[in-house]
Amino acid sequence: MWNFLARNKQVAAMLGLLGAAALVVIFLATRGRGHVIVEQFLVETEDVSEDPYIFSAHSLPSDDRFMPSIGNGHLATNVFSDTVYMNGLYNGRKGESRRARIPAWANIRLNSTLTNHPYSPVYSLDTKHGVFQVTVDRDRSVVTQRIFAHRYYTRSIVNQIKVEPKTHADPNFVHHEIWIAIKQMPGPESKDIAFGSPTPEIIDEMLVWKACGKTKEVEDPAFQGMLEDVCAYWSSVPDHLVVPHSRSKVITFFMTVDKNESVARQEFIKILQEDGEELFEKHVEQWGRLYKQGGLEIEGNLQLAKIVNGIWYYFLSSLPSEESHFPLDRFFGLSPTGLARGGTFDDYEGHSFWDTEMWMFPPILVLYPQYARQLLQYRLDNAYVAAELARITGSKGYRFPWESAYTGSEVTQPCCPDVAEFEQHITACIAFAARQYLSMTRDEDWLKHGGCSIVTNIADFWASRAVINYSSGLYDIANVMGPDEDHSNVTNSVFTNVVAGYSLYLAQYVACQCKSYYMAKDPDHWADIAWSLTLPYDETLDYHPQFQGYRRGEGIKQADAVLLGFPLQYPMNISTRINDLTYYESVTRGNGPAMTWSMHTIGQLQIQDNLRAATLFNKSYEGYVREPFKVWTELRRPKVGAVNFHTGMGGFLQTLMFGYAGIRIHLNRLEITQPQLPPEATKFRIKGIKYLGSNLTLDIRVLQTTLTVISVDDDWPILMYNGKYNVTLVPGMIVTLKGTGPFTIRTVPWKDCKLPVDTIGQNYLRPIGL
Ligand SMILES: *[C@@H]1O[C@H](CO)[C@@H](O)[C@H](O)[C@H]1NC(C)=O
Ligand SMILES: *[C@@H]1O[C@H](CO)[C@@H](O)[C@H](O)[C@H]1NC(C)=O
Ligand SMILES: *[C@@H]1O[C@H](CO)[C@@H](O)[C@H](O)[C@H]1NC(C)=O
Ligand SMILES: *[C@@H]1O[C@H](CO)[C@@H](O)[C@H](O)[C@H]1NC(C)=O
Ligand SMILES: *[C@@H]1O[C@H](CO)[C@@H](O)[C@H](O)[C@H]1NC(C)=O
Repeated sequence: MWNFLARNKQVAAMLGLLGAAALVVIFLATRGRGHVIVEQFLVETEDVSEDPYIFSAHSLPSDDRFMPSIGNGHLATNVFSDTVYMNGLYNGRKGESRRARIPAWANIRLNSTLTNHPYSPVYSLDTKHGVFQVTVDRDRSVVTQRIFAHRYYTRSIVNQIKVEPKTHADPNFVHHEIWIAIKQMPGPESKDIAFGSPTPEIIDEMLVWKACGKTKEVEDPAFQGMLEDVCAYWSSVPDHLVVPHSRSKVITFFMTVDKNESVARQEFIKILQEDGEELFEKHVEQWGRLYKQGGLEIEGNLQLAKIVNGIWYYFLSSLPSEESHFPLDRFFGLSPTGLARGGTFDDYEGHSFWDTEMWMFPPILVLYPQYARQLLQYRLDNAYVAAELARITGSKGYRFPWESAYTGSEVTQPCCPDVAEFEQHITACIAFAARQYLSMTRDEDWLKHGGCSIVTNIADFWASRAVINYSSGLYDIANVMGPDEDHSNVTNSVFTNVVAGYSLYLAQYVACQCKSYYMAKDPDHWADIAWSLTLPYDETLDYHPQFQGYRRGEGIKQADAVLLGFPLQYPMNISTRINDLTYYESVTRGNGPAMTWSMHTIGQLQIQDNLRAATLFNKSYEGYVREPFKVWTELRRPKVGAVNFHTGMGGFLQTLMFGYAGIRIHLNRLEITQPQLPPEATKFRIKGIKYLGSNLTLDIRVLQTTLTVISVDDDWPILMYNGKYNVTLVPGMIVTLKGTGPFTIRTVPWKDCKLPVDTIGQNYLRPIGL
């Protein structure tokens, strides 16, 4: 599929290494310069499965960072790693706070996959069933190992070994036994948790081990009184299994972990009583329910379908189960590398950044609004800490930290004080996520339970940060950093000002929605400030300088000003949009983080340069997705950066959903604009779009695009303009979308509230709404 793989296949074949992962060093002469450089890269293992939901290989990646993860939102681990992480379990002070390592007592390997063995195993990640499988086809039996984080028994990681004897011509064989050597590999002691020595216990006539301990250091003594308790139970694992040849057998090993010992213990006992196959079925059933709610289906481009299925699998693995044996604890957010990583600085320590709200949140919102609410809830839970951060930095309202983990206080790594001090746009990005959430759901219950408060407090923060400049008649925001981290401590970052302006306008709108139960002091004041916030714009060159004083030609790290067009959808002339896209593409670092190019792709689709879009689309994933398990890296090959980079995955889903499918979220409508097939695909379906309680499926095909109405919420009857006339959408209806649209879906107004004006940069002497 990829040129890169093809090239390496040749190299690998030459070296007789095909199928195996190996570090190959080749010498390449650089053109023109006349000297020789050494380029080092990994030959990635090939995915041999034709099934879009299954990624299979004959060997594991040689770099274990490219191993896939399993997870259920409470626990997660990288397959075959010695580490398990738990939602909300951190150790370390301030910027050192990172996911606390629990030894992987359920990490078991078949000896035949550890040592040179005549049988060649097949390793598969089955994204549909949420399981990693190892299959070893032996002379007399097929041994299948299943590794999964149980989606219903959420405190557990399960490792099952299924032995299926082969029928044999010789009837005497039936009396034989099958012998399987295994090895438990929990790794060394945890440096993060002071566990007592494991103690044995007999439960239901089984030998069981238990260890309890505490984390070693609280994150921030101002907000966290005590060290965290952790308790684990796990099955005793022998060094081999003996299975009679007469029938199939499933042997289950597992560990349970919780902060509460009794929960870990009771869950352990409950699983012990389950039949092995039924235990697995219960897990699979939960994954089935998740996928039934929504998804992206692609035909005609297998690689693309696989990448997309991988992304949803990884996202859902870090989000909480909807049904579980024991109620779940608070949810502590979706970090850029998910729940299975974050024990090190490289993997962002399990912290939450703007990545959550701006990159992962929008695709999740469209299909799984209940999870979007959970993501916002993490911020609400930390609101009082955000109020404190605003206060100590001389501002008002809520200021959310650049990096947030257990307590919600600032935990940016010691390396990088600048981002913590200046990347204040995160606070506005949270309001932007809230705006999109309200656009898609009109969730009154959310507004009542903290929504009104968080939105208005974010506006108070920006109102206190904006300073009137009497010479320009505009408000300035100084001492900030936009998404481009190569420019620090700037004034009037165009991205920051626009997204801050939106958050001020949103507060006025939300104050109106909430007025019967929530008092806001002076909502119009927020809108007045937004109206007069400076908007850097160069009239001669008809583009947006990234900030006041930006010198044309200076390189930037990643997409910044281009985010005005999307996701912010800031109104501008098409000529300006084209100029922003063309200019910033030319000055953006080639090796920057993955999601930059997804935003450029969306931009090119918007300005209808489909060829450029296709080129940038390739650039948005090639070199970032690692075979065979479709793990994403932050940086393009041969660099790595953070793994498994959910931020890049989120950007990629946005390209498909908002770029190719053309979905646009607005406060008063949902639009579908220029829906088209992604490169090489013959069919692209987005199933389970949730708009105001309705459930819609968009089908894009070569010859026609249709929208199928699965259900509609009686409270919010919806109408669609199909290019010719308005159609009332009723369940069962299939509407054909002819042409490029925009096709607009609307409902009745939400209370009697005026929509935000949403433009900034107007002199404060001119009143709003002229
Ligand atoms: C399994 O392999 C390990 C080495 O990885 C070895 O120490 C152990 O003895 C083997 N077990 C059996 C039963 O062969
Ligand atoms: C006020 O705005 C002008 C541009 O109109 C700018 O040159 C000046 O630096 C601003 N003043 C401050 C204090 O930022
Ligand atoms: C940021 O810029 C201001 C001037 O606006 C300056 O006083 C301050 O020292 C700068 N801070 C850092 C950390 O560079
Ligand atoms: C957009 O274009 C129109 C017509 O060309 C022009 O009058 C207007 O000033 C432009 N707007 C901006 C913000 O440049
Ligand atoms: C994108 O990559 C695919 C696969 O490598 C290739 O077939 C296609 O031509 C590329 N598209 C563009 C526009 O470069």
